[in-house]
Amino acid sequence: MSPLKNDTFLRALLKQPVDYTPVWMMRQAGRYLPEYRATRAKAGSFLDLCKNTELATEVTIQPLERFDLDAAILFSDILTVPDAMGLGLYFAEGEGPKFERPLQHEDDIRRLQLPDMAALSYVFDAVSSIRRALDGRVPLIGFSGSPFTLACYMVEGGGSKEFRIIKSMMYSRPELLHRILETNAQAVTAYLNEQIKAGAQAVQIFDTWGGVLSGEAFETFSLHYMRQIVAGLIREYEGRTIPVILFTKGGGQWLEKMAASGADALGLDWTCDIGQARSRVGSQVALQGNFDPFALFGTPERIEEEVARILAGFGTGSGHVFNLGHGINQHTPPEHAKVLVDAVHRLSRQYHHG
Ligand code: CP3
Repeated sequence: MSPLKNDTFLRALLKQPVDYTPVWMMRQAGRYLPEYRATRAKAGSFLDLCKNTELATEVTIQPLERFDLDAAILFSDILTVPDAMGLGLYFAEGEGPKFERPLQHEDDIRRLQLPDMAALSYVFDAVSSIRRALDGRVPLIGFSGSPFTLACYMVEGGGSKEFRIIKSMMYSRPELLHRILETNAQAVTAYLNEQIKAGAQAVQIFDTWGGVLSGEAFETFSLHYMRQIVAGLIREYEGRTIPVILFTKGGGQWLEKMAASGADALGLDWTCDIGQARSRVGSQVALQGNFDPFALFGTPERIEEEVARILAGFGTGSGHVFNLGHGINQHTPPEHAKVLVDAVHRLSRQYHHG
């Protein structure tokens, strides 16, 4: 493998000195890019695109051709893992992801098995192929959903606003939910370790729905299992540390607990103040975030102002990876994403002294 030409992202995650604040965007490869829509049409469907090594590589690289990003993220989805467990993932047009066989009955939950990693080999093939295509340009991020976030889709059978079914299970049959979460935690650990062996240079755990829980339930049903994953991950590979990023959307209240999980960095959504977050946990972990993705609908001047506000909020020194507080919206003008990336690079140099 070629040596990394730009390791700013990895250095910032480990709070080592950098010349500027590195930046990437959650969901940077996606429908807001016309070239993504063209490749997806060629692949047939979103899942066909994920399973096609060459096309998954192509869409991973697309945002790097447009913007001066400091990391690439594997093009895939968090729901590949429950799909490999036999739940039957499909995407209903305009309705988001769905499962043919959700886990709503005790028998289905008792029968749940760890997925065969061979059923996910298309993901690991994509990782190796992307590493080759990157040729050391920037690091590649691997990812997975958190056990709780995966369980939300597995139990609800798709997206949800209220999480009635999974919360009913949590409060009436917690042992059933724990059985799912335990299986997910083991599956995610194995899945991320395979991504690392295939070439992922950092990994992020997306806990998109942990924030809908009470503090106590977050500890018991989400953080507990993320801690278990972090403890089971390969942390050194190819002579480098593999940093782990935990991102709980809506988790701003629990940063101290999350910082003690063993992760190297915490993702922040836009609702928390990054300066306060840094004073709470900045000696323990790096922080990633936290630009409101809808601020990309503002004028270029307003976008730069918002970038400047976040950079100043974090302040001087390493330990910040600039990102959005959640995935980029599909209606975002691509040229506004360029304004953001360039502004982060230009405005952040004053906060670093090598
Ligand atoms: O960041 C990246 O560029 C990497 C790719 C990536 C995708 N999904 C591609 C995708 C990542 C990291 C994900 C993670 C993911 N998937 C999460 C966690 C992060 C988050 O956004 O909170 C979740 C909850 C999912 C589940 C999922 N997959 C949903 C809810 C949807 C539908 C979204 C919608 O707007 O309809 C998907 C599909 C999906 N995953 C798309 C992409 C680019 C859109 C598919 C398409 O082309 O139609």
